[in-house]
Amino acid sequence: MSNKEYLLHPLIVGNIEIKGNLFLAPLAGYTDKSFRTLCIENGADLTISEMVSSEGIARGNQKTVKLMERADIEKNFSIQIFSGNLDSVQRGFDALLAFNPTIIDINCGCPVPKVTKTGAGSALMKDPKTMGSIVNFLTTHTDIPVSIKFRTGWDLENENYIDFAKTAIDNGVNLIAMHARTKTQGYAPTAHWDRLENLVNIIHREYKDIPVIGSGDIFSALDAFNMLNTTGVDGIMAARGAIGNPCIFNQVKQYVKTGSYNEISIEDRITLMKHQLELMSADIGEDIALREMRKHCCAYIKGFPGSSKVKMELMGATTKEDYNLALSHLI
Ligand SMILES: Cc1cc2nc3c(=O)[nH]c(=O)nc-3n(C[C@H](O)[C@H](O)[C@H](O)COP(=O)(O)O)c2cc1C
Repeated sequence: MSNKEYLLHPLIVGNIEIKGNLFLAPLAGYTDKSFRTLCIENGADLTISEMVSSEGIARGNQKTVKLMERADIEKNFSIQIFSGNLDSVQRGFDALLAFNPTIIDINCGCPVPKVTKTGAGSALMKDPKTMGSIVNFLTTHTDIPVSIKFRTGWDLENENYIDFAKTAIDNGVNLIAMHARTKTQGYAPTAHWDRLENLVNIIHREYKDIPVIGSGDIFSALDAFNMLNTTGVDGIMAARGAIGNPCIFNQVKQYVKTGSYNEISIEDRITLMKHQLELMSADIGEDIALREMRKHCCAYIKGFPGSSKVKMELMGATTKEDYNLALSHLI
């Protein structure tokens, strides 16, 4: 038993309770229904869709609609939208509600030019007024809790995360999640956890009931524990650390409770890869699933003896039988 078990707890978000504080972060191209299912089966307390274009929702784009489907296991499911203007959020609003999200999240962190040039994603860090108007519209037109996921600022000279968070809260947001890097930093170097600590101190002092979630450089259970323990965040989001290791959530729980955790064995990884392919095939068909699994497989087997040869076999697998045969060469 550890005396740090208080670090794991349910979260109140607006009018709902989330059973725990370990979230799977949104990861475009990775966190589809199948991967989210795997993460929930392995301890994730909340899952979030890949980012979904509000313009695509408004237009009924079929690819967009698919991204908003909830997996059977997802009792709570947040849908993340991206938009650079209130208009498209308003036009897509009814279609979004039809998917019955538990939480609606607004992406204020995506650095990809295709997104930022429309004023969406991290471009909102430069335009808190539009972000505030979107939050305000959503919170005044539905009881569904609303959250934002943002960065510390556009660049190191313009870190405005405190004011940005306050604008969101003043417009009714129910949860804030910060990736502790600026837009220009992208995904490296080291995330600035000191900004998370600063954010927590100010938001907890001034607004009692707004959970603050931390994101950035959670690659292991120990990283998650350290972020919870040192910054005071109310919860964490695992992102790249969950790719190839959806067990990270239960590992965090085990570590917090016992002070150690079991690494996942190669046998566990093979089981996970087979299960993920089954789930994905049922959802999108075996052909596409085999292609989609390639990037996940690279992460699952990275660093294992003989993995480069198996990787080549997996890349060439055109049937489930090829895939399973390739995996059998790992042990
Ligand atoms: C491939 C990839 C896709 C991502 N997609 C999204 C996304 O759709 N929405 C979002 O808010 N953040 C997205 N992110 C950011 C992550 O959610 C997370 O905040 C970031 O990776 C920092 O966490 P990490 O250092 O632990 O990976 C993405 C990151 C990566 C690497």
